[in-house]
Amino acid sequence: MPIKDSSTLIAQPNLTPTYSLSDWAKGHQSLYDEHDYWIDDIEGQIPPELQGTFFRNGPGLLDINGYSVHHPFDGDGMIVKISFADGRAHFSNRHIRTAGFVAEQKAGKPLYRGVFGTQKPGGFLANIFNTKIKNIANTNIIYWGDKLLAMWEGAEPYRLDPYTLETIGPDYLDGLLKPGDAWSAHPRIDPHCAMDGGEPCLVNFSVKTGPTSKITISEFNPAGQLLRKHTHSVPGFAFLHDMAITPNYCIFVQNPVIFNPLQFLLGLRSAGQCLQFNPKQQSKIILIPRNGQDQVQILEAETCFIFHHANAWEAGDEVFIDSVAYDSFTTIDPDVDFREIDFENGVPGALWRFRLNLTTKQTEHEVIDQRCVEFPTLHPEMVGRPYRYLYIGAAAQPTGNAPLQTLLKLDLTTGKQQIWSAAPRGFLGEPLFVPRPGGNAEDDGWLLVLMYDAAHDRSDLVILDATDLNREPVARLHLKHHIPYGLHGSFTKLVVGL
Ligand code: CO
Repeated sequence: MPIKDSSTLIAQPNLTPTYSLSDWAKGHQSLYDEHDYWIDDIEGQIPPELQGTFFRNGPGLLDINGYSVHHPFDGDGMIVKISFADGRAHFSNRHIRTAGFVAEQKAGKPLYRGVFGTQKPGGFLANIFNTKIKNIANTNIIYWGDKLLAMWEGAEPYRLDPYTLETIGPDYLDGLLKPGDAWSAHPRIDPHCAMDGGEPCLVNFSVKTGPTSKITISEFNPAGQLLRKHTHSVPGFAFLHDMAITPNYCIFVQNPVIFNPLQFLLGLRSAGQCLQFNPKQQSKIILIPRNGQDQVQILEAETCFIFHHANAWEAGDEVFIDSVAYDSFTTIDPDVDFREIDFENGVPGALWRFRLNLTTKQTEHEVIDQRCVEFPTLHPEMVGRPYRYLYIGAAAQPTGNAPLQTLLKLDLTTGKQQIWSAAPRGFLGEPLFVPRPGGNAEDDGWLLVLMYDAAHDRSDLVILDATDLNREPVARLHLKHHIPYGLHGSFTKLVVGL
């Protein structure tokens, strides 16, 4: 779709403009090509100690043969891989050959309806996250137990070759899943699991929702073998995108939404558009004991909508959870193109801290910072533990809703902040914190983030020194092309596929 050309910068009232909508929208174009090359256009220097592989998933195609998706979350998954070794970096990207992708590319047109609004004729769907929906495998990617898995919360993961990124096929986790079974795109890694003698373990969940929802927790050892699995019923419809963990709990925030499937069944709206936020209902915080034996606890909390949690930890009989919370949930109406979205009328996500007392069952919340933020990251050793530093994508201005153009470092002990800005023509995705080998301080490491550079219509991988965001980036790796805005990724210390 043609992008309207406009150099008008957009700002909140009385603040300096920081971006133009046409610049932002250009980052939502499909990337049809698949590349494989050494990155040689670099400003600064790649630290030689930075060894490993950056994987990121996200929609690669925002159209199928010219038919645009209605929402970027409906775009087929594409993996970006950047391998770092000895101060050099190698780039490759591949579209994931899911069954739906292959069929639609062959047909030259969409054959499925998307969860978030892409409407095309094709079968009635009885359950939003259950049957006959296209598995687009576009949300996250993780290398665990020798498997590279692309994840989407509506169905099973797709396994890829970590060297070539070729699609191997759906993966059922050694029989844990059956075809079509959901497995969330938001696993967490407990760096030192108390139940496993301090070994790391991967914790993930599946949700089967309805008038009552079933949440299944699954935990895996570093070899990818299942350690624990247990299923729990919770009342009500549950839209659960993410989970936080502590040594003893898996923690969910059940958003106050009503799912009204009638318009979806009639084909008038997508499943995602039938989620309705109910401002009169409280959020519920669900704590599932990781041992699978103790009682599930459900506490009421301040009304809000949450996609992502930053971290959680325990302190005596209290549990703390830091999350990106929105005052309400908005969908893109069927007649609006997402590239023309009105940011100013959107609801920004802000960083909240929930404090739960498990004895009195009381909860309270505080807004840590008002700034519009998304995509939190932290030192992987601090997952589930009290921590000091959080890094997160943020808007360039302190108030209002806007695209992510800056990286914010929050010192949660002192309240100090640092900001690195890519505004006015740079747009950021999810940052990843990578610890410096041998480093001791919690912020001793790098932040890796993909930035869409509208001025050059290409993307950069920016490497920042996490100890001081006021410094110039350590390196900017200019890619030969753009990468559409993505979702989540991960970093593995293994250098895969050089
Ligand atoms: Co997510």
